[in-house]
Amino acid sequence: MAYELPELRYSFDALEPYIDRQTMEIHYSKHHQTYITNLNKALDSYPELFEKSIEDLLINLDQIPESIRVAVRNGGGGHYNHSLFWETIGPKSDNKPSEKMNNLISDSFGSFVNFKAEFTEKATKQFGSGWGWLAQDNGGKMVTLSTPNQDTPLSSGLNPILGIDVWEHAYYLSYQNRRPDYINAFWEIINWEAVENRLRR
Ligand SMILES: [Fe+2]
Repeated sequence: MAYELPELRYSFDALEPYIDRQTMEIHYSKHHQTYITNLNKALDSYPELFEKSIEDLLINLDQIPESIRVAVRNGGGGHYNHSLFWETIGPKSDNKPSEKMNNLISDSFGSFVNFKAEFTEKATKQFGSGWGWLAQDNGGKMVTLSTPNQDTPLSSGLNPILGIDVWEHAYYLSYQNRRPDYINAFWEIINWEAVENRLRR
């Protein structure tokens, strides 16, 4: 079955003032849709690949026919990354990391403050377009990383649980060149329950 936009659980203006309504609308309806359209177009030439999950496609990119591999990497990665992004942010609330989540983060980074600094640095220093991530390795340990373009931690054997889109399309209307301000605002709209639900162990 062809890929479609996932449902957004909140309205386009629900993340204001941290992410403005117009950015949300264009980001979701235009940018995310374009990744999906390009992914579907690529898979049309190998319809049997529609039976695999998006995770499966991205974990095993080397098994994708060469003629569509770049399109699946970019379109499929874009679809997966943006779906995760919408899922793990939401209207500002008092939704703080649970004790379990805090402990996992402290075990891996020493403290939440250290984690926040590391994540912020990765997202800030990603040159050009890309993503900053919190992911879990196979042993359950948390790591931070950044990826260029629409590459996903899945393709490096990691399970991404939180990601910030640092493409300019994600923040330019409100923040222009001030990526650090956007990254700082991101902490206000993280849905920690959704992040925790993505843990594999
Ligand atoms: Fe984006």
